[in-house]
Amino acid sequence: MVQEGAGLHVSKISKSFGHVHVLKQLDLIVQKGEFLSIVGRSGCGKSTFLRLLAGLDESTTGEIMLGGKAIKGINPEVRVMFQESRLLPWLTVVENVEIGLSHSDNSKSKSEIRALATEMLEKVGLAGREDEWPHVLSGGQKQRVSLARALISKPKLLLLDEPLGALDAFTRLEMHQLILNLWKEHQFTAFLVTHDVGEAISLADRVLLLENGNIAMDLNVSIERPRERDNTQVTELEKKVLNRVMNF
Ligand SMILES: Nc1ncnc2c1ncn2[C@@H]1O[C@H](COP(=O)(O)OP(=O)(O)O)[C@@H](O)[C@H]1O
Ligand SMILES: [Mg+2]
Repeated sequence: MVQEGAGLHVSKISKSFGHVHVLKQLDLIVQKGEFLSIVGRSGCGKSTFLRLLAGLDESTTGEIMLGGKAIKGINPEVRVMFQESRLLPWLTVVENVEIGLSHSDNSKSKSEIRALATEMLEKVGLAGREDEWPHVLSGGQKQRVSLARALISKPKLLLLDEPLGALDAFTRLEMHQLILNLWKEHQFTAFLVTHDVGEAISLADRVLLLENGNIAMDLNVSIERPRERDNTQVTELEKKVLNRVMNF
C-alpha cells in the first residue's frame, strides 16, 4: 500500500501573535517524499510553523501549497503527531487507530476499517493489542498507536512535533527505526521537529535551522542509511549544527 508524498511550496509565510513576529517571510521548497528535520532554540517558532503546515492555524501573510493545492484549514492529506499521544481513553487501541480515517470517507465498511486498523497496528509492532485500553500501554506503545492513527489515512505529509521527546533512549532508537521503515514503505513527505540534533541528522535528508523567524541553515544530509549512532559523518555534522545553533 504505497502512496506518494506531496511536494510543498511555502512562499513568504509570516505569522505574528500581536507584536510578536514569530515567522518572517519564510520561503521553503520541499520535494515529495523528502524527510526534513527542524531544529532551533525553544520558542523560535517550530511548532507554529508545523501548525500552519497542518492547517491548524492560519498564517498572517503568505501561502502554503501542498501538491499544488493551497492549504486552508485542516486537510485529510496531512497528519500530525505530538509529544503526547492524545489517545482517547474511552476507546480501545484499535478504535483509536480507526478515528484517524477521514470522517468524510464513507466508502469503507466497518469490517474494512477494522481490517485496516489491525494491519496498521501490526506495522507498528502492536499486533494482538487491539482490544486493550490506552492506559495499560507504555509511553512508547502509546506513540506507536498514535503513529498508526496518523498513517491509517495514508497522508501525503506527516508532521512530527517532538513525538519522541518524552521517551527513554532505547524506546527512541526503536521509534527511529519504525518511523524510517514506515517512511520508506509509504513514501510520505515528513517533517520532524526535534531538540535532539543527533536525531535530526540520523533521520533526515535535510536539516533546517529555524532562527529569527526564518530558515538560517538548510543542510543536506547525504549520508547513506542506515546511519549508526557513532557514524563519524553524523557526529561531525552534529557538531557543525550545534555550533551554529549556539553561535560558537
Ligand atoms: N497561540 C499563541 N498566542 C500567542 N503567542 C504564541 C502562540 N503560539 C505561540 N506563541 C509564541 O510564538 C513563539 C514561538 O512558539 P512555538 O512555535 O511554540 O516555539 P517552539 O515550538 O519553537 O518552541 C513563542 O514566543 C510563543 O510564545
Ligand atoms: Mg514546540
